[in-house]
Amino acid sequence: MSTTDLKDMAELVSLCKRRGFIFPSSEIYGGIGSCWDYGPLGSELKLNVKNRWWNAMTNRDDIEGLDAAILMHPRVWEASGHVDGFVDPLVDCKKCRARFRADHLTPEQIDSKNCPTCGTKGSLTEPRQFNLMFKTHMGPMEDTASLVYLRPETAQGIFVNFENVQQSARQKIPFGIAQIGKAFRNEITPGNFIFRTREFEQMEMQYFVKPGSDMEHFEQWKAMRHKWHVDNGIRPNKLRFHEHAGTELAHYARAAFDIQYEFPIGWQEVEGIHNRTDFDLKRHQEFSKKKIEYFDEATREKYVPFVVETSVGCDRALLSILCDAYRLEGERTVLKMHPELAPYKVALFPLMKKPELIEFSDKVYADLKRTFRATYDDSGSIGKRYRRQDEIGTPFCATVDYDGLTDQSVTVRDRDNMTQERVPAARLTDYMRDQMKIWKPS
Ligand code: GAP
Repeated sequence: MSTTDLKDMAELVSLCKRRGFIFPSSEIYGGIGSCWDYGPLGSELKLNVKNRWWNAMTNRDDIEGLDAAILMHPRVWEASGHVDGFVDPLVDCKKCRARFRADHLTPEQIDSKNCPTCGTKGSLTEPRQFNLMFKTHMGPMEDTASLVYLRPETAQGIFVNFENVQQSARQKIPFGIAQIGKAFRNEITPGNFIFRTREFEQMEMQYFVKPGSDMEHFEQWKAMRHKWHVDNGIRPNKLRFHEHAGTELAHYARAAFDIQYEFPIGWQEVEGIHNRTDFDLKRHQEFSKKKIEYFDEATREKYVPFVVETSVGCDRALLSILCDAYRLEGERTVLKMHPELAPYKVALFPLMKKPELIEFSDKVYADLKRTFRATYDDSGSIGKRYRRQDEIGTPFCATVDYDGLTDQSVTVRDRDNMTQERVPAARLTDYMRDQMKIWKPS
């Protein structure tokens, strides 16, 4: 049977809406640009992505967790360089009001000023710098003194807490701080579903190292982060590194690599690994007038640590997982995602709605739910029920039939290769655990 990958993001958008992964935000009011809501299955999947990241990061002795506030002192963003430097060049069409990032236009479009949307000749404005931070006010007065920003990255919450964490957790360098949280950017051209949005979630880790050892740690983190995506079930041939050349480097970075995934819209960044040097800690020292130094008791040295950062968008990683899992196999649409990420691990089907089958099914279902997220479906043909679960990535379907009443077994059907196996009900959770352990993307 021929298998095809996802060709058009619109197919995924439609599946996500229909099956309750992701809905357009405020849809009954016509939606709001680039905001999306995670539905019952999407919120489960997102939690699984976050848990995998959190466990990979914090289930080691040298990384601590943090959950900092979204609103921070406005000086933080002056120190970080975001007030002056977090800008995109913006161009407007005077005729149709379309907006573009000047750096996304071709040199010809810039020179001719012809609008790529409505085609009007000479209608584009000169580029002007547009700051991507959302502004709001803290307290009842809407004046400059009350101005605060919604954080455009979670990283700064980590930098300003460097000493709090290091001292309270009694960590020694090298060590890291990991955080998951919302970030906000007033993007000029959001789009491509959840790829680029104005509100998104980041999973960031800052690893504080001795100056001079930064590039060695940088290389290690590059490899570890690539492996995380592969361990999530992403096919390795769909991942690659992209090195930032001089002009592409962010204001804080000495070296930077993106991990890119081949989306239906082409190769795009999913995660950034940056050598941020001592830029941020030194700037916070300067702006807060507080010393931020580490004292190495072994060598009796004092220094401002360097930082290797790994920064992955949770929504974007989730999108790469959905895109990679999506397959069309004849009539069947299937999400072949890593079983550990799947919203439901197992669906239980009584063959028919007969009391004796329901009684045994209810018992097996209750047992399953003690260990796994499970769902129950007793409507329609078994074939239809398989298709419903395939589409949402449920790795196992277990059917209770009449034979099961005598041999206390169920028929387990595998999502990826559609093979079936009789498994004693008492062994079902162990069986699933074993199968999940040896799972490989196909
Ligand atoms: N602290 C460094 C930092 O924020 P970044 O490359 O600007 O670096 C890191 O962002 C990651 O955050 C990106 O690789 C991407 O996955 C995600 N991200 C950034 N902007 C986003 C947006 N507008 N929508 C969704 N995800 C975004």
